[in-house]
Amino acid sequence: MKKGNSTILRTYAAALGMAVAGLGTAASADNNPPLAALGLPPIPTDNVQTPEKIELGKLLYFDSRIGGDASVSCADCHEQKQGWGFNDSLSRGYPGVIHWRNSQTVINSAYLGKLFWTGSAKSLENQAPSAALGAISGNGERDMVEARLAFIPEYVERFNDVFGDDWPKVNNVWRAIAAFERTLIHNDTPFDNYMNGDGDALTDQQIRGMELFEGKANCIECHNGALMTDQKYYNLGIERAEEWFDNGMAQVTFRYEQYAKGTTEELYRTIKDDAGLYYRTKETADMGKFRTAPLRYTLYTAPFMHNGKFFDLEEVVDFYNDGGGENEFTDGTFASNKTPLLKPLNLTDEEKEDLVAFLESLSGDEIRIETPQLPSYAPLPAVAN
Ligand code: HEC
Ligand code: HEC
Repeated sequence: MKKGNSTILRTYAAALGMAVAGLGTAASADNNPPLAALGLPPIPTDNVQTPEKIELGKLLYFDSRIGGDASVSCADCHEQKQGWGFNDSLSRGYPGVIHWRNSQTVINSAYLGKLFWTGSAKSLENQAPSAALGAISGNGERDMVEARLAFIPEYVERFNDVFGDDWPKVNNVWRAIAAFERTLIHNDTPFDNYMNGDGDALTDQQIRGMELFEGKANCIECHNGALMTDQKYYNLGIERAEEWFDNGMAQVTFRYEQYAKGTTEELYRTIKDDAGLYYRTKETADMGKFRTAPLRYTLYTAPFMHNGKFFDLEEVVDFYNDGGGENEFTDGTFASNKTPLLKPLNLTDEEKEDLVAFLESLSGDEIRIETPQLPSYAPLPAVAN
């Protein structure tokens, strides 16, 4: 079949939400939602997009005054030059600590119904306060944030314009940031263009890689649909990243999180791997499980996985080719939860390269914006006179 025809069929099938026999092998067999071009993100009716709100959200995203000691902004851990994430295995943390997980990109977070590595927030409006107020990230306090913003005349005016607030309200901080994040979208990749009918957008190698993705390599089992994630949770058996062993502070944060998430004393004392979804459900069956990651923009977001274990896409493909890994939740120490969906793939070197080439087609141009000029505090009365 010619490239063009299969593209049109795929686009048509995706639009109808169906799989076309013979196009996606594993996909059609198992009824996985087919790969598809990405449209526009959903906008909640109670937080509509306006240019003024988006502009306000952009300022707040870059403004460290919404964090505890006014030194950490969203942009510090979601840095545009680092794929709108943070390029260490474990993210930087609030001053004095290091975070316990890898910082995810905020690009395309607008499409996700489950945010964070274990899906603990369901909307960007709910995610932002966890980030800005969480002890190891922003460590802010609601009233302090409101008090600071009230001393910044430009914010007072902007919150009034956008939300009708007499004084900036902290809940509207989250809503404005969410509106800004909904503009950080990446849906014009070579892959999307191909799916939208441009048969030349992918190279032959990338097309072979896509066939592997949907077939022999069976990535489609979890990375499916237009977002390339089923937003379900699996334990792939990912081991601790080196950084955790090398960094005492990372281990301190890790212990703190066992306590903060309310684990048993035994786990608090002995566990060495991140138990993932377990912290939310307290079900042994959820140990070591994390949300399937979306795959667009990964050209810029290394290292990969919840703990930043892998530094490039080749390493990721090798990991899957070996049938995943082993950790404390696969070897029976705490659980034996490894997903049965991962098996050695027996990919040849050429097939691995094809698969990586396909993964690269899920990223287009890097997203860069001009860092905004932040508004100043009102001068002190003595100075003003
Ligand atoms: C100190 C570092 C740090 C700061 C500050 C921070 N983040 Fe994050 N962010 C992270 C880490 C680490 C994760 C993943 C944590 C997890 O899943 O447990 C994350 C996850 C996210 C996600 C989820 C993405 C996804 O794919 O589910 C979004 C969205 C996000 N942050 C937005 C923000 C916003 C908005 C702010 C500012 C209000 C912010 N972050 C401040 C480190 C940070
Ligand atoms: C059983 C479900 C499943 C299958 C099959 C699967 N993945 Fe994943 N993938 C996940 C989960 C879950 C994560 C996040 C795991 C974590 O961080 O612990 C992930 C993460 C990734 C990431 C890292 C993304 C990031 O932002 O860190 C890449 C890249 C990736 N997968 C590619 C692939 C490829 C290529 C294949 C096929 C060879 C594949 N996956 C097969 C579930 C799966």
